[in-house]
Amino acid sequence: MREPRLVSNPLYAPSQVTPRTAEPSHFHHSLPGYAPTPLIDAPHAAQRLGVASVHVKDESARLGMPSFKVLGASWATYRVLLRHLGATREEIPTLDALAARLTNSGIRLCAATDGNHGRAVARMARLLGLSAAIIVPGDMVGERIEAIREEGATVEVIEGGYDDAIRRSAELASETTLIVSDTSWDGYVDPPGWVIDGYSTMLSEIRQQFRDAGLSAPTIVAAQIGVGAFAAAVARGFATESQARLVGVEPTQADCVTSSIEQGGVTTIPGPQLSIMAGLNCGTPSIIAWPDVSAGYQTFVTITDEQAADAMRLLASDGVVSGESGAAGLGGLLCHRDELGLGPDDSVLVISTEGATDLQNYRAIVGDAAARLDLDVHQHEGALR
Ligand SMILES: Cc1ncc(COP(=O)(O)O)c(C=O)c1O
Repeated sequence: MREPRLVSNPLYAPSQVTPRTAEPSHFHHSLPGYAPTPLIDAPHAAQRLGVASVHVKDESARLGMPSFKVLGASWATYRVLLRHLGATREEIPTLDALAARLTNSGIRLCAATDGNHGRAVARMARLLGLSAAIIVPGDMVGERIEAIREEGATVEVIEGGYDDAIRRSAELASETTLIVSDTSWDGYVDPPGWVIDGYSTMLSEIRQQFRDAGLSAPTIVAAQIGVGAFAAAVARGFATESQARLVGVEPTQADCVTSSIEQGGVTTIPGPQLSIMAGLNCGTPSIIAWPDVSAGYQTFVTITDEQAADAMRLLASDGVVSGESGAAGLGGLLCHRDELGLGPDDSVLVISTEGATDLQNYRAIVGDAAARLDLDVHQHEGALR
């Protein structure tokens, strides 16, 4: 097992990061149940890090789902279907109008996933009256598979890891099976680009929430990394015009971006990746996210499962239900606090990108603390129905 490490990024060039967009925001606002997720003050985390403040963007209840991923999945699904229909956004401005145009279309949505993205695509298919085929790696926990099935999707469990699931999904593409992937590969770049754009709504909310609370911009922003789409969106939100230092965080056993930085270009690491941070278990960076991730982050760090678990417990003590991948950003700062040189002048932003998506493991890790704190670890289902 590799040790946690910190890598300074020789490719850092924040002026080259793609400017941010606000395009998907109108669409998200039109979805039933849309509301900004909370920005939470986390004094216990601030004390442990020895910084002035920690704010946590809490994505445990986003449009009726327990992770931020539905922001990207919904916008990408919308754009994929518009393109398929040859229609413009003006012609089909809402989800209801889109559903009406798709009646009896026979279209199936398909995605590979390590959990949250596929569940969100399955939800979009259900809302649009379409079927969905979701491909998952062999080691996915039963609870996450069941959550996808409950959205009405068929789930194919393949032998192998996330990268194998991606290959399988690409094989299924046809005139009527449309792939909505959050990662890209040669010749498949538009939908994962729309996924990154979709995440921009969360970044706009964060900026607004900092302004509304009279807070100055954070000096440190940590982003956990799977294929890098989320980290690319965070880079677009912060790299170009703020002073924030961006830190990318990966599991030691799924460090494809950190390894790529060390190699000077996109690299695949050997799999399967079996970290408890399931959403981060990826072997290859997304080629469409790579330019912004490699230009936007000063530093990349890796952490062990135990360090993610430590961050889950700390976030629970601040009242935030954060799953294994959700807590990884904070885990990276905790583990590498000294090397990063964090101090009392720093104000930190972390994004808890999911709630308790594996309830059994959440209970095993956070245990009695959750009950003592009266945390609501159940997903806030039902908003987007
Ligand atoms: C909860 C959670 N956080 C972070 C990520 C990382 O996102 P990306 O794969 O875009 O790097 C994922 C990906 O699935 C996730 O599920």
